[in-house]
Amino acid sequence: TFVVTENCIKCKYTDCVEVCPVDCFYEGPNFLVIHPDECIDCALCEPECPAEAIFAEDELPASQRHFLELNAELAEKWPVITEKKDPPEDAESWDGVADKLSYLER
Ligand code: SF4
Ligand code: F3S
Repeated sequence: TFVVTENCIKCKYTDCVEVCPVDCFYEGPNFLVIHPDECIDCALCEPECPAEAIFAEDELPASQRHFLELNAELAEKWPVITEKKDPPEDAESWDGVADKLSYLER
């Protein structure tokens, strides 16, 4: 499966959802996740993310391992998203900021 990681938080560009052939992205207030049981590993979304927040599970940096479980948990809770929308107005200023997990809204 592919996994959305920390740098998506408060950036949420949503370019990723447009290319997913199985519509397995789910949307929270300031973060998106991938449903691990629905992702078919096509890899199309990974290069689409301007924040480089999407990784294959087996290429996850050690600091981002816990996002695998978080994607699984939140994908069960949040609604599906299939169309790109405008990112938050301050998205660019959050790109690359460290330790954004504390800002995650559920
Ligand atoms: Fe969707 Fe493919 Fe990305 Fe999985 S790897 S989330 S199937 S676009
Ligand atoms: Fe997030 Fe990147 Fe998609 S910032 S919403 S994973 S395009």
